[in-house]
Amino acid sequence: DQARQIQETLAEFRLSKGQLLEVKKRMRMEIERGLKKDTHKEATVKMLPTFVRSTPDGTENGDFLALDLGGTNFRVLLVKIRSGKKRTVEMHNKIYAIPIEVMQGTGEELFDHIVHCISDFLDYMGMKSARLPLGFTFSFPCHQTSLDAGILVTWTKGFKATDCEGEDVVELLREAIKRKEEFELDVVAIVNDTVGTMMTCAYEEPTCEVGLIAGTGSNACYMEELKNIEIVGGTEGRMCVNMEWGAFGDNGCLDDIRTKYDQAVDENSLNEGKQRYEKMCSGMYLGEIVRQILIDLTKRGFLFRGQISETLKTRGIFETKFLSQIESDRLALLQVRAILQQLGLDSTCDDSIIVKEVCGTVSRRAAQICGAGMAAVVDKIRENRGLDHLDITVGVDGTLYKLHPHFSRIFHQTVKELAPKCDVNFLLSEDGSGKGAALITAVGCRQRELDA
Ligand code: BG6
Ligand code: GLC
Repeated sequence: DQARQIQETLAEFRLSKGQLLEVKKRMRMEIERGLKKDTHKEATVKMLPTFVRSTPDGTENGDFLALDLGGTNFRVLLVKIRSGKKRTVEMHNKIYAIPIEVMQGTGEELFDHIVHCISDFLDYMGMKSARLPLGFTFSFPCHQTSLDAGILVTWTKGFKATDCEGEDVVELLREAIKRKEEFELDVVAIVNDTVGTMMTCAYEEPTCEVGLIAGTGSNACYMEELKNIEIVGGTEGRMCVNMEWGAFGDNGCLDDIRTKYDQAVDENSLNEGKQRYEKMCSGMYLGEIVRQILIDLTKRGFLFRGQISETLKTRGIFETKFLSQIESDRLALLQVRAILQQLGLDSTCDDSIIVKEVCGTVSRRAAQICGAGMAAVVDKIRENRGLDHLDITVGVDGTLYKLHPHFSRIFHQTVKELAPKCDVNFLLSEDGSGKGAALITAVGCRQRELDA
């Protein structure tokens, strides 16, 4: 009977093909609303123009700085791109910590910290006086009116610095560089991580016209026909659109598949009511869903001898890397218990079986709904081009996709099932999105020279 009740709890997370097709269909509707002029303003999936009009063509050249802010790691990079017969890209980078007080302090503190890290990096590389062009990978929703202007729509994930929303983050960076009075830089482009990832992969594989992040957050971008992006307008050519699909469902359109555990995760978050789809399928939140289920099962006496420990009450204990370990098939249950022990959870053998099943159910749903979203995207591209069959490559990055033992497989399988007219090839970005940001910066610099 206990087993039955646990199964009933988990049943809500097990979506049928019909339900997944419904998710795909709704994503498609939200995409249209984001693209259309009349509905763009209130649309939840914002479909933000990026002013990136083509993928790399191999003529990009020069030395660039890149910043990569918003994922697990904050990095400063030097990227040296050489065009010609033997194209090469050389990268140097350093990872810096962003303390939580800085992520959630004032905007000025955050940008001063960023500039402090750049300064350290330039010293380290011995390049203080170079005045390099810089590409800023900033993995949050920004309204762009050009390559080098981005107004932060809203913070997402773990960030909540004051006085940034509604501001142009490129200006905030430039002002912080001025305040420091130590070096000059030329900020040329602001780039979402999905876009950087797409460009990184497209440099090696020209059929790559979609970018996906399944990491701390979840999001995608793709090359859309300019004529469909009504707020930009134009007749010919394409532009990359940063979908900001994490906000899918914020108008309630996913309420029928959201569980009370999803609602609890939302209520406990920094941005209640926002990023509802992201909260069902990205690394920052999967562990939280698991934790909410475990708390409930413990309260009902099915787990941990009915005792809710302080550990279980702690937000964020199940990071992606722990979920990935718990779900690894190579681990014996004894090892699962050891991981739980490490986290401070005393478990019996039966407990560990249940915990593993909870994790598996939550991550499977994540991979499936993420796959349903991607199916909507590739089918849209196929229809845009009037094709019965589309071959396309998606550039992917993110800790969930890279570390989790099952996420990528279930995700691929779902895309295949829900978009049978598309052959989708997934390409892992090995260098993060900094390389892509540098490529975009190179194009931006060349465009400037042409305009001048
Ligand atoms: C990295 C990119 O490789 O992937 C980042 O360079 C991006 O820009 C990140 O944010 C996403 O992954 P995660 O899991 O670190 O959020
Ligand atoms: C969040 C951000 C988005 C980013 C994604 C992945 O959804 O809003 O801009 O691409 O996380 O990092």
